[in-house]
Amino acid sequence: MKDKIILITGATSGIGFQTALALAKMGAQIIVTGRNKTSAEESVANIKSASGNSCVDFLLADLTKQAEIRALVETFKQKYSRLDVLINNAGLVEPIRRLTEDGVEAIFSVNTVAPFLLTHLLLDSLKASPSPRVVTVTGGDVVPIDLENLQAEKSFLSLNTYSQAKVCMMALMVEFAQREKNVAVNVCFPGGASTNMTTSIQPEMAPTILKLIWPLFKWMTRPDNGKSAAKASRSSVYLASSEDVEGMSGKYFNTNCKIVEFPTFVMDTTTRGKVWEAVVHVSNFVG
Ligand SMILES: NC(=O)c1ccc[n+]([C@@H]2O[C@H](COP(=O)([O-])OP(=O)(O)OC[C@H]3O[C@@H](n4cnc5c(N)ncnc54)[C@H](OP(=O)(O)O)[C@@H]3O)[C@@H](O)[C@H]2O)c1
Repeated sequence: MKDKIILITGATSGIGFQTALALAKMGAQIIVTGRNKTSAEESVANIKSASGNSCVDFLLADLTKQAEIRALVETFKQKYSRLDVLINNAGLVEPIRRLTEDGVEAIFSVNTVAPFLLTHLLLDSLKASPSPRVVTVTGGDVVPIDLENLQAEKSFLSLNTYSQAKVCMMALMVEFAQREKNVAVNVCFPGGASTNMTTSIQPEMAPTILKLIWPLFKWMTRPDNGKSAAKASRSSVYLASSEDVEGMSGKYFNTNCKIVEFPTFVMDTTTRGKVWEAVVHVSNFVG
């Protein structure tokens, strides 16, 4: 991985941090993104010292703010002539429905719109790589896509809104894979891990099924100093680095790095087209 340039979102903690660390240990040039300068600097310093790789940098953007995403991409293009791997890892759950400054629901904004916008805006940089890859991290449950409730306009339950946002993201990535034949675009499921995200989940954010096993969920997501997050980074690291997946695109990999079927809603071309249109619309995408 020595000559590879890898941009990874949400690498200031959890699975993203562990993914960045593992790829830095392989010798890749890593650019982590974060929304907070202090924690981004801390992550860079920790990755450098734990990997012995000094080619680690950071770029800042709050991924709920489209202007900041666009500015991040511009800065990236000024500094780097190509991008070999984009890892859309950042994810967000919040307890209450909130609209961003762009007027987009925040969970949908980070889990669906941001990966779409970053992938689109970085396509030129990716195409300058001899073997470009986009890896996007999914999560949550397999839920149907309700096109009338993409931004929880009708109903909001944090983890359901999150799950639907991830399914929508998967639909977008399948669409990218079909449109961009020269860029490998894949999705992976990391598996459960104790991270800031999972420890922030409260019963009122969860569907009934999770409430029923609440003590077990809390036990499974108890703090473990990044051990489970490191394990959960395996599928991202595999998709970013392995020769085994060279040339593969439009696939969904589970936590054990095995190809599995996408949810049926993702493979429905009509639904996919409508999600694509909706996200193009909210991201004010031109070009
Ligand atoms: N943990 C699990 O059990 C699990 C299971 C399935 C899927 N996943 C997925 O794995 C990925 C990583 O999550 P994690 O569990 O490692 O959680 P985490 O430790 O909370 O990491 C999430 C990362 O996303 C960043 N982020 C969130 N909102 C952002 C925003 N508005 N702008 C910029 N960055 C933002 C966070 O930055 P800050 O440090 O600034 O908050 C953090 O770096 C997510 O896509 C998640 O959906 C996790």
